[in-house]
Amino acid sequence: MTPIRERKADHIDICLNERVAPGYCYWNDVRLVHNALPEVNADDIDLSTALFGKKLSFPLVVTAITGGFPGAKKINSNIAEACAELGIGMGVGSERAGIAGADPDSYSVICDYDVPLVIGNVGAPQLVEQRSKDRFSVEDVGRAKELVDADVMAIHLNFLQEVVQPEGDVNTKGCFDAIRDVAKAYPTIVKETGAGISREVAARLRGTGIVGMDIAGMGGTSFAGVELYRAMAAGDEIRMNMGESFLDWGIPSPVSLLEARNGLPLIASGGILDGIHVATSVAMGASSAGVANAVLREAAKSADAVKSKLMLIREEFKAAMLLTGSADVKQLSKARYVVLGETRQWLE
Ligand SMILES: Cc1cc2nc3c(=O)[nH]c(=O)nc-3n(C[C@H](O)[C@H](O)[C@H](O)COP(=O)(O)O)c2cc1C
Repeated sequence: MTPIRERKADHIDICLNERVAPGYCYWNDVRLVHNALPEVNADDIDLSTALFGKKLSFPLVVTAITGGFPGAKKINSNIAEACAELGIGMGVGSERAGIAGADPDSYSVICDYDVPLVIGNVGAPQLVEQRSKDRFSVEDVGRAKELVDADVMAIHLNFLQEVVQPEGDVNTKGCFDAIRDVAKAYPTIVKETGAGISREVAARLRGTGIVGMDIAGMGGTSFAGVELYRAMAAGDEIRMNMGESFLDWGIPSPVSLLEARNGLPLIASGGILDGIHVATSVAMGASSAGVANAVLREAAKSADAVKSKLMLIREEFKAAMLLTGSADVKQLSKARYVVLGETRQWLE
């Protein structure tokens, strides 16, 4: 396999077999206030919502995970089948490899299913000059969009990962202009990958013309953690130590969500594990929640396993709606919550 395909395969293996999250669940710090007299009939609760002009049966997106190596096709196909059946959104992993000709069908397999919201994916580091590598043009992003027939393109920010991995793409200059150029050409969102988006960055990003953000904060998958295990396998002590030092670097997801609110639709992700977290994120201002690692194990098994997991999340989400007296997602967005623990300290 080429190095990029090997790296993609490593990411999946590591996330399936190792603990790559910092270990503190920030979403559990946010509690929805219980309504003992909800006066809502569970059968009438409307879980549906709209995101980027597409209707979702409940506010959830399976965010970017993979593509670009032989084993990725099955994973994306399992996720896409489940997302289509449940009527929720899905993103594919970075399309850099696919555009270079590596297993394009591992991405385009999403087109075999009727997924209501398809999110393509390219990395911000690829949009600017990186040492000897060619940069992606706006037209290349267009090819990535076509490959999966994306409704929206996500540009991911993953500089935590780039800075801890060997030979990472560490020129971050010019990303703002590049994002603005892509956003002019196609409906575009910016997503983090596990370190969160601050108030200041959210305000700057707003000026690029993007249509939304996925805050992907700290508390779930840590790419410093993933790189730690890759460095371990390679016997690279410096990178191992770097991975460990930066394992909990970033803005906790619920804090990032509150900071990034500036009128654009937000996907709340990074450590979302269940339907209560989904409901909490909506009450805190998210248009939708996002999950990656929480469905990875199932995605490696079968479409049915992914479906069962997503159905559980939907049931928990519906129960949280009932218990907050929310007959629809708009009402849930006004539900009262309290913030405890480390998350509260962050906010103070
Ligand atoms: C195995 C794996 C691969 C990922 N690859 C990508 C990627 O290619 N592009 C991207 O934008 N995010 C990628 N992500 C990040 C996720 O989309 C998400 O932002 C992050 O994992 C936080 O969500 P989680 O805590 O639910 O995993 C990946 C996540 C995992 C677990």
